[in-house]
Amino acid sequence: MKRIAIMTGGGDCAGINAFIAAAVRHGILKYGAEFVGIRKAYEGAVSDRIADYLLPLTLDGVKGLECCPSTILESSRSFPFSRENTAKGLPEKLIANLRSLGIEAVLSTGGNDTIKTGMLLSTRGFPVICAPKSIDNDVSGTDTMLGFKTAVAFGAEAVRSTINSARTHRRISVVEVMGREAGWLALEIGMAASADLILIPERPVSLERVCAAVQRIYEQQNNVNIVIAEGVRFAADDPVLNKAKAESQVVRALLEENLGTDCHGNCKLGGVGQILRRIIKIQLGLAKLEEVRCTDLGFSLRGLPPVAEDINLGTRFGIAAVDRLYAGESGIMVGIQGPRVVSVPIEQALVHKGVDWDDDELRSVGVIW
Ligand code: F6P
Repeated sequence: MKRIAIMTGGGDCAGINAFIAAAVRHGILKYGAEFVGIRKAYEGAVSDRIADYLLPLTLDGVKGLECCPSTILESSRSFPFSRENTAKGLPEKLIANLRSLGIEAVLSTGGNDTIKTGMLLSTRGFPVICAPKSIDNDVSGTDTMLGFKTAVAFGAEAVRSTINSARTHRRISVVEVMGREAGWLALEIGMAASADLILIPERPVSLERVCAAVQRIYEQQNNVNIVIAEGVRFAADDPVLNKAKAESQVVRALLEENLGTDCHGNCKLGGVGQILRRIIKIQLGLAKLEEVRCTDLGFSLRGLPPVAEDINLGTRFGIAAVDRLYAGESGIMVGIQGPRVVSVPIEQALVHKGVDWDDDELRSVGVIW
């Protein structure tokens, strides 16, 4: 094994560059490997002009890279194995492109979709090892994914800041965080910031119960601090929602807005915080919308410089991915389980990992539904 490609697909996050730096350093020093990065992941790898997407990865080139935010290899959500792309022969073109460059294996960081793409490439006989990254922290077989700890640390700081301001101005504050289907970010950011209420996709929300809690807490402390995951959806027959729809054209418009989907068919999310903001104003009969403020942390959780835990996790994943590749493994994801880095068959990793704490513990830390 000599020439290895590295790709970084899906949503960016902290720790990916630490993975790249460690894999390159370990591979060159221990195995005499050569590394080439392919920009924009599988979009670059299937391009007619793949040479335009290449970035040689050398010992000098990765010096100090481990603490840099996001990824130097850019990213895409391109999916060469979709039905449409398969019909166009993109899987065969992908392998032909890689082979034409003398590439013998691929190391890839990714969330569930990019990891699935790596598995499909591996099943076609091309060696692939994946490392889990996503602020959503939503794949199985690993306690943590790259980027999650950094996003929680920053998100908690940001929510604590909004709480300080809500106290001063005696306001109700709604903070929306990412997390497409899993509520880990909302749960751990809300908990770390001591938010009063946390709403997650794993627990279907009763808006009547939420608004009653907001009213009660406001009467007690003259401010309320709510963290909501972007993936929370309100039941179409929720009477409080329907009252808000009847009274607010903005609520209707936000609920009806189609934000589109990505290459893997995932719905684009965002805006649930603004919907909840208006629901609270209407349900509590507040005179002005400004009494309820909404902050969407959105992409601020993605482009952060990594905290030490994500640098170290990326480093361990990079070293392990190279060692397992040279041990002849393929079609696996490296994961962290307790103190150990392990190899996880990708089929197992792709099992969605939603918030699985018990109801009592969730209620105890402020989750409401
Ligand atoms: O996959 C992680 C994630 O940040 C999700 O939390 C979010 O819904 C999605 O990516 C946003 O995708 P994009 O960056 O393509 O808009």
